[in-house]
Amino acid sequence: MHQIDVSDKVWQRLLQVRRGESCACCGDFSKSERAALDLYSPIARRDNQKLVIGQIGQSLDGRVATVTGDAGDVSGPDGMVHLHRMRALVDGVIIGVKTALHDNPRLTVRHCEGPNPTRIVIDPNGRLPNDSPVLAADGARRLVIQAAETKRPAGVEVIRVQAQDGQFNPHEIVRALHSEGIENLLVEGGSYTIAKFIESELLGRLHVSIASLIIGSGPSGLTMSDHPETLANAIRPDTLRYSLGSDVVFDCGLLPNAIEAARPLHG
Ligand SMILES: NC(=O)c1ccc[n+]([C@@H]2O[C@H](COP(=O)([O-])OP(=O)(O)OC[C@H]3O[C@@H](n4cnc5c(N)ncnc54)[C@H](OP(=O)(O)O)[C@@H]3O)[C@@H](O)[C@H]2O)c1
Repeated sequence: MHQIDVSDKVWQRLLQVRRGESCACCGDFSKSERAALDLYSPIARRDNQKLVIGQIGQSLDGRVATVTGDAGDVSGPDGMVHLHRMRALVDGVIIGVKTALHDNPRLTVRHCEGPNPTRIVIDPNGRLPNDSPVLAADGARRLVIQAAETKRPAGVEVIRVQAQDGQFNPHEIVRALHSEGIENLLVEGGSYTIAKFIESELLGRLHVSIASLIIGSGPSGLTMSDHPETLANAIRPDTLRYSLGSDVVFDCGLLPNAIEAARPLHG
């Protein structure tokens, strides 16, 4: 397991990498600072590929909330900072409308320095209220991907994608976002939305961040409709493990080019 140290020097370097001003490999860094660069630089880089990455913050028993829907503090403090770092390094953050309705997230960067990403909600039926925090005017771009005619406030961009049986093809979503210049994407949840991106073979990497608590029942971090009958057919991603402090992150490569991009740069 790699221990990470996101010192100010490391974070400033990552923000430079994100802006295309620097590489992540040169310089004098400690072993744990280098591990931090290995974990985050594939998200920050813009020179090699357009990355779609997912993030799940879950308990030891794979839950993201209690049965009554309490989902506030599943991740520990370092898991929360990790999520905000990921937001700061991507161009856009995608959530499904159920997460927007249930959690009222703002999707801003508050636990570290960095730019707020474009906020994107997948809402085929136009169910998201216009006064949702995720649509608040705060300088960040806000986008709703919908098929319904629901009117949105000035400043909120609507992307219309063709739905088939109420379903958007995630490839169409990604194509539409790329044409808007939103290329490195974080799919932040929930389980349904992440599963659709995995099943479409679009998710290059998945960060599963585990906090040390046992909930015992409740919704799980990932439930896929396309699942194997036997363990022999389970997805077994190439995985690197990092200790964040209060949480442990499994950095899983799901697509070959994404795995290559995240190979440790420094032994
Ligand atoms: N711990 C974590 O990391 C984390 C992160 C985020 C959320 N959560 C939790 O996850 C729960 C919500 O997750 P969820 O899985 O129930 O729902 P979700 O993924 O947030 O939203 C699912 C909904 O989004 C729309 N949608 C998403 N992808 C679509 C596609 N390809 N085509 C058409 N529509 C699409 C559909 O809306 P319609 O229903 O209108 O068809 C779908 O029912 C909440 O309890 C939240 O607290 C946990």
